[in-house]
Parts: sequence; structure tokens; C-alpha cells
Amino acid sequence: MKKIAVIGADGQLGSDLVKVLKGNKVFPLYYPDFDITKPEKAREILSQINLDIVINTAAYHRVDECEENPQKAFEVNSTAVRDLALICRDVGFILVHFSTDYVFDGKKKTPYVEEDTPNPLNVYGVTKLAGEYFVQNLLERYFLIRTCGLYGEAGCWGKGTNFVDAVISLEKKGKPLRVVNDQCVTPTSTAELALRIGELIQTQHYGLYHLTNEGQCTWFEFAKTIFSLTGKKPLLIPVDSKAYGARAPRPSYSVLENRKAEKVGLTEFSPWEKALKIYLTRKGYI
Ligand SMILES: NC(=O)c1ccc[n+]([C@@H]2O[C@H](COP(=O)([O-])OP(=O)(O)OC[C@H]3O[C@@H](n4cnc5c(N)ncnc54)[C@H](OP(=O)(O)O)[C@@H]3O)[C@@H](O)[C@H]2O)c1
Repeated sequence: MKKIAVIGADGQLGSDLVKVLKGNKVFPLYYPDFDITKPEKAREILSQINLDIVINTAAYHRVDECEENPQKAFEVNSTAVRDLALICRDVGFILVHFSTDYVFDGKKKTPYVEEDTPNPLNVYGVTKLAGEYFVQNLLERYFLIRTCGLYGEAGCWGKGTNFVDAVISLEKKGKPLRVVNDQCVTPTSTAELALRIGELIQTQHYGLYHLTNEGQCTWFEFAKTIFSLTGKKPLLIPVDSKAYGARAPRPSYSVLENRKAEKVGLTEFSPWEKALKIYLTRKGYI
């Protein structure tokens, strides 16, 4: 049994981690009582608990907003992560931290492996990459997880919703749906990601990992599959990124290969379609 703090414990990934890790002694930490941008208070709280592991799911990840507010993005995604890494180094905690497929520029067109060189296209990606560098440079014992296209039962707090719930809610309002069809990703279930994290932290195979469900699709194909599984037929309109007009540029291809996870013998992720079906069933959509 390990003693584990989960930062952002009511977020979509955080809440699934709290569920999965319940065989351990888990300390859920909630914003704003626990705020990673307040390092002195964070140090005081974390040092008082006799921990083995700190898991940080907190991020500022409204990708378009980050373009307008780079200072806040750096504060939450980079500087606060540096401060958290320093606390972990000083007190001797293992840090589990999450990063993103958006550290890549999408030019590769085959799944990115951990050794590929990042080249973020937007402020969010730059700040998450800076966070990665702090973790890697300050710590020896860390699990740094890049993941992609998360959806979970709690819904994404930072974005107000997640993609699956958002398109289902728009369909209910009878609205036509314009969905981007030139960005290829891997939708990933936080329930399944949390299970793999639970496995990984039992090991001492520290380092950088890509962890996502298997397979790939565009956001349009993802929406199409959601509606074919739920038996709905909304007007779905594929659009390209330019026509969609989001403020932040995004990679056209950001599929991650779980190469290192396979090397260390982690249970293989399911295909994204299978994980999606489980999610839709659990949420009562099918
Ligand atoms: N969502 C995606 O599609 C996606 C894709 C790739 C990578 N990621 C990464 O995966 C991680 C988890 O994402 P998620 O979707 O589970 O996020 P989420 O649902 O937004 O959860 C984040 C949690 O962190 C809390 N938080 C925000 N600012 C904080 C602060 N300054 N101090 C402490 N807690 C704070 C939030 O609380 P409040 O809600 O009260 O603010 C929320 O509980 C993030 O690192 C993200 O960058 C996400």
C-alpha cells in the first residue's frame, strides 16, 4: 500500500485515479484549497503528509484561451510544475505528471514515440513542454505521461465538458455539428488511463511515457462513431481546421505510440472504439 496525493482530484482523470487507487492510502487534493501556483502553501500541505507519490493532474488546458493568456499558461503548466518538482525532490516524493500530444507539430504522420523531438505549435504545447523539461531536469524518480484526447465520467473541469459529452449535448439541442476532419488523434478514456497509471506506479521504470488508447481517428470520425454507437443521426458536417477557425493552431497528426509502455510490460490499452463503448454505456448513453 502506497501513500499517494492526487492533485486535481475532481477533474476527469483525477477522479478516475482516486477510484483506481483506492487500495492505497489516497489523499485527494482539490483546487482552490490546494493550488499548485501557491508553492509555499503546497509545500506545507504536502510535507505534512507522509507521502510516497504525488500525482499532478492540474493544468490550464483551454488551448485557445492559452493563446490570449500565455502568462497564466506558463504559471500553471510550467512554473508551478517546476515548484512541484522541487518539493518532490526536497522531500523525496515520486512525481507523476501529465503532458500532451500537443508538444508535437504533427508533421510526422506515423505515431510519435517518446524519443521524437517535440516542436509545439501553440502556447499550451510550449508551456506543457516547459513543464516536462522541469520534471526531467529536476527529478530522477518521476513518471511523465503524455496522453491525448481525454474523456472521463467526471467531465473535463478545465474545459467545462469533454468532447463526447459536448457533441451529445449539441445533438440533443437539434443543432448541426461542424467537426474538424483534418486533425488525427487517439481518443483516450481516463478510466483506462487511470488503470495503467495504477500499474505503472507499482514499478520503478521511471521516465517519459506515451499512454493512450490504441488506434486513431479525426475528431469528425470520433463524433461519427459516438453517434453510430448511440443510434443518433445528427447533421454532422466535416470541416477543416481553417474553416473551423480555432485561435490556436493544432497539429494535424498527434497520435502517440505506447512504445515504452509495451517495453516495460504494461497491459495493452484497448482500441479507442471499445473504450468509447464502455464509457457511453456507463454514462447511460447506450
Ligand atoms: N483533456 C485532454 O484532452 C488532455 C489531453 C492531453 C493531455 N491532458 C493533460 O492531462 C491532465 C489531466 O487533464 P484532465 O482533462 O483530467 O483535466 P481536468 O478535468 O480539467 O482536471 C484538472 C484538475 O486540476 C484542477 N486545477 C486546475 N488548476 C489548478 C491549480 N492551479 N492547482 C491545483 N489544481 C488545479 C482542476 O480544478 P478546477 O476544475 O476547480 O479548476 C481540476 O480538478 C492535464 O495535465 C492535461 O494537460 C489532457
